[in-house]
Amino acid sequence: MENLGKYRRSCLCGEFGGIAAGETVTAMGWVNRVRKLGQLVFVTLRDHTGLVQIALDENADSRLFAKAESLKSEYVIAVTGKVALRREKDINPDMPTGKIEIIAEEIIILSAAALTPFQVGDENVSEALRLKHRYLDLRRDGLQQNLRLRHKIAQSVRNFLSNQGFVEVETPVLTNSAPEGARDYLVPSRVHPGKFYALPQSPQILKQILMVAGMDKYFQIAKCLRDEDLRADRQPEFTQIDIEQSFIGQDDILELCEALTATVFKETAGIDLPTPFPRMAYAEAMARFGSDKPDTRFGLELVDISDVVAGSEFAVFQSALDAGGSVRGINATGCGHLSRKQIDGLIEYVKTYKAKGLAWIQLNGGEIKTTISKFFSEEKLAEIITAFDGKDGDLILICADQDNIVFDALGALRLEIARRENLIPQNTFHPLWVLDWPLLEWDEEANRFFAAHHPFTAPMDEDITLLDNNPKSARAQAHDLVINGYEAAGGSIRIHREDMQEKMLNLLGYTKEEATANFGHLLEALKYGAPPHGGIAFGLDRLTMLLANTDNIRNVIAFPKQQDGSCPMTGAPNTVFPDQLEELGIGIKQKS
Ligand code: AMO
Ligand code: AMP
Repeated sequence: MENLGKYRRSCLCGEFGGIAAGETVTAMGWVNRVRKLGQLVFVTLRDHTGLVQIALDENADSRLFAKAESLKSEYVIAVTGKVALRREKDINPDMPTGKIEIIAEEIIILSAAALTPFQVGDENVSEALRLKHRYLDLRRDGLQQNLRLRHKIAQSVRNFLSNQGFVEVETPVLTNSAPEGARDYLVPSRVHPGKFYALPQSPQILKQILMVAGMDKYFQIAKCLRDEDLRADRQPEFTQIDIEQSFIGQDDILELCEALTATVFKETAGIDLPTPFPRMAYAEAMARFGSDKPDTRFGLELVDISDVVAGSEFAVFQSALDAGGSVRGINATGCGHLSRKQIDGLIEYVKTYKAKGLAWIQLNGGEIKTTISKFFSEEKLAEIITAFDGKDGDLILICADQDNIVFDALGALRLEIARRENLIPQNTFHPLWVLDWPLLEWDEEANRFFAAHHPFTAPMDEDITLLDNNPKSARAQAHDLVINGYEAAGGSIRIHREDMQEKMLNLLGYTKEEATANFGHLLEALKYGAPPHGGIAFGLDRLTMLLANTDNIRNVIAFPKQQDGSCPMTGAPNTVFPDQLEELGIGIKQKS
């Protein structure tokens, strides 16, 4: 192993194309590949900017030639030599440095590398192995680009918000529970045996307290921690662009976020997002797309045919209607050609969303095939087809059940068909505000209300009286920014009066003691002059996913957790030394 000595890196590997032939340079990086062609050796050297070719001729220097030949993939080396133009036939047009090569005069091995468990850049190895050796996978071009894009996005956000007068304030990581609908990660206190800190699910309460404190415009690029099941777009540890502002209404927040989003898209990806973004009420999103985060890049909208089929002999439909549910469907336009087996596949698919089945009408080659011919007259069938605007070549899929199941199943089916049939236009972004959310959700099992957003969201002014007589139908001053079917950001106007906050907590089933124990500090702060305020939080990871055009959140996080929440590289979570537990007064009980 040698040291750098007198050498300095002339430029990054991908930048050598800009250097004139004949100049003496030093390149440093990782050995990508070594090729021997007779008396010539070619070494491609790599860093995050790309590759540069190093060439050696045995006749010029046999000692150096032997050294070059002995290099292995992922060795870290420094090479000094002269830039030379390649012969016309050796030019590689696919490589930014493809017109030149460096004729080596000295090679310094800075680090040897053991045989790597997989080849850098190979994505066809198990993700667990790639996560275990994340530093190797991160050398790959795609991941390098994603992390650099993430940095640019954060930078763009910081600049934008700072220019608008927002101040970045850090809030603690060791704190109290602030519920966002997930379990808390708890940290035991050594000094206060039996007591725990909670890691923040978000800085929600603290940012509101910063408004009471007169900060006026706050933001933070904040780590949030939620003990919940992972998904492709969900990590237990993720980053929010957290924003709060005083003396504002909902429109102010929407406009601010539109400008922020448009700026980030433009600055980091050169994409023009027209503003203002379209707005849609929650109820409309559910009715048309079966989802509170609709992907509006394609059609396949839901159609309610409850009225058309009411009073039929078909028990499946009628019993759903009798139970207060609905009959809805989608016209999978152009899917009339699907085979019976493929349709059965779709039926199996909706069953994972608790639907009991699908009725279907296939319009193919002038023929109508359907599972429901027995129960409907020809005229009625024609009426149903008309309701869906069905044409030859289409496939109508119908689901009858409770509304929530119908929406879930058809919302998912819509996406699945679009994916399978390639109906989703790529490289286009459809931002959408979802507004007019319900304030509360009734949980049948727990027999109580939960806050649809979080307990600090204000009801709409005109719905405040509903809190006393019909809380279920009260709407919230909440806003979600949906982009291409992802919830990119969510927030609300907050309750800024203590009496209203107490009433809300009461509605959510907290006793006075529980409310004081969990939210006493907020309730207390609200007593001493709280300005009206509101805000939002973007998911930085999700924003990066969208701009990086990846559907896996792990591809935009340096050290993500795998599906079961563990990290194969660090081994977290891990056991600890017995004396650490002793000090904390903690004993481990085997879970039954
Ligand atoms: P919310 O819970 O909607 O709101 O979170 C805001 C945004 O954070 C992102 N997000 C996640 N990203 C990755 N992994 C997760 N597990 C995860 N959970 C959420 C989403 C989401 O839109 N305190 C409120 C914000 C507010 O009211 O101002 C909050 O946390 O993109
Ligand atoms: P069955 O009565 O279960 O034989 O179902 C008759 C037809 O109705 C089949 O084509 C089923 O796929 C369909 N079906 C079953 N349950 C539902 C439902 N909840 N909504 C729509 N169609 C259904």
